[in-house]
Amino acid sequence: MLKHMFASILVFGIANASLSTQAANHVNEGAAIIRYDTIHHPVIGKNGMVSSQRMLASKIGADILRQGGNAVDAAVATGIALAVTLPRAGNLGGGGFMLIHLAKQSKTIAIDYREMAPKKAHRDMFLDGDGNVDNRKAQFSHQSSGVPGTVAGLSHALEKYGTMSWKQVVAPAIEIAEQGILVSYDLSENLKSRHAWLTANSATKKAYYKKNGVPYEPGEILVQPDLAWSLKRLAAHGPSEFYQGEIAKKIVADMQANGGLISFEDLASYRVAEREAITTSYRGYTVASMPPTSSGGIHIAQMLNILEHFPLKQMGAGSADATHLLSEVMKLAYADRAEHLGDPDHFNVPVKGLTSKAYAKQLANNISLSKAMASKDIKPGNPAPYESPDTTHFSVMDSQGNAVSNTYTLNFSYGSGIVIPGTGILMNNEMDDFSSKPGVPNAFGLVGGEANAIAPTKRPLSSMTPTMIFKDDKPYVVTGSPGGSRIITTVLQVLINVMDHEMNIAAAVNAPRVHHQWLPDQLELEPGYSPDTIKLLKAKGQNVKSGKTMGSVQSIMYKNGLFYGASDPRRPDAGTVAVQ
Ligand code: GLY
Repeated sequence: MLKHMFASILVFGIANASLSTQAANHVNEGAAIIRYDTIHHPVIGKNGMVSSQRMLASKIGADILRQGGNAVDAAVATGIALAVTLPRAGNLGGGGFMLIHLAKQSKTIAIDYREMAPKKAHRDMFLDGDGNVDNRKAQFSHQSSGVPGTVAGLSHALEKYGTMSWKQVVAPAIEIAEQGILVSYDLSENLKSRHAWLTANSATKKAYYKKNGVPYEPGEILVQPDLAWSLKRLAAHGPSEFYQGEIAKKIVADMQANGGLISFEDLASYRVAEREAITTSYRGYTVASMPPTSSGGIHIAQMLNILEHFPLKQMGAGSADATHLLSEVMKLAYADRAEHLGDPDHFNVPVKGLTSKAYAKQLANNISLSKAMASKDIKPGNPAPYESPDTTHFSVMDSQGNAVSNTYTLNFSYGSGIVIPGTGILMNNEMDDFSSKPGVPNAFGLVGGEANAIAPTKRPLSSMTPTMIFKDDKPYVVTGSPGGSRIITTVLQVLINVMDHEMNIAAAVNAPRVHHQWLPDQLELEPGYSPDTIKLLKAKGQNVKSGKTMGSVQSIMYKNGLFYGASDPRRPDAGTVAVQ
């Protein structure tokens, strides 16, 4: 089986590698498979689909669907497999968010399995003697880890909404951890570029490098025996092994030896939260996304509600007018994010106000289509009466109409860089997503307020945005992305590319993206914007910066009895697998 999988990775990896401009992407699929009016073509299938940032993990998920599992079974298997295949973001030692749509009950569930601050955490824990944020401590120390939620979140989803056993969905990950994964050019280069940092911790060095810290070359096999041990213990003893068993003992021992805060009590009291999804209507569609502790859903709803007041389709995808409008809308949303968003179990987030149509209309009235607002003139509004680039997302749909949209992370690539000895488990550095000093930007330049200050058992605010579009109350598109602060704006653009610009899912994912986050006052543009458009944007007062690529979107669309999927070409080795 593994040999077959490796071959597939190479073939699909190459097939995915095309990023181009968005000319002639407007297409309604369903009539024909090969279209001469679009550059980008999705993967197509009839009986379900899995889209993730690693082809091997997508194949594992699709195999689960083929064996009769539902979308939740496949999603959990994919999530666990990504911990083996994509060590920089796939994880057991991190946390995330899952949106599940159950066809039979016509119900959408939001599962928050974000990390929680240890009980010994306190508001000023990352400030030095001068009151400044000690970034090393906040980002790369044992104290930078929140209590991981991934094992609890995935097992919770499986137990309540899946059909297969925990053992069945963990099994494929054990196999690839034990037998090894093919080291791709991407993985080899990624590990080489972080060699000094990752080899500083001896357990991390042992997990991801050869003897004496020698890096793996492309084509070699990375075997992860310690991770296989952890996965086998999880399979044999259940998810509580992570929170109360042998794995917990190893986590606490390493924390105690290195000044970390996570205790047995913290692990044993970790809880998943089921929350109500954020929903909004948009031009005849319904969009559902993640509620706080993520800021994603609120700001997707808020931005769509504002955009509804403008003729986005007539402006044209990628035009200066549409891009200027997006920039203004993003500024307004991120200003509110800084002030009003935090863990809803600790802070009263004004969800209703922020997502209300009336508040959006008030904000829309402030937008000029010819002149950019300066960020300094924007203050967080009053809604009361309103990845790391290496987070990772996967989407799953099954033939019964169930759907899963899941984004999870270690925060930075490879999290804190600390592997717990003997487990092969990398720990997150999610404590840096709190506002260590309210008002001072975090690693993504995001400003946070009191709402996101550190407190025991609190969850740090996130931007992760697993999202679904519904058409006639049925899942139409499942999508999401990594990208730190750029996650929300990346997902927004996929949504409007589908709903306003009527692109097929591959074109919607491929089209160049923009990002503005209020502070700093700059509009980042991906490669692909023409110099003419940039000139027009500058004339409107936009402070344009040519940026790097944003996000790695993994999306599925269901239309006319077929699944259409696309993995973002912005990262190598991603893949969408159809069940035929
Ligand atoms: N760690 C990035 C996020 O949760 O948004």
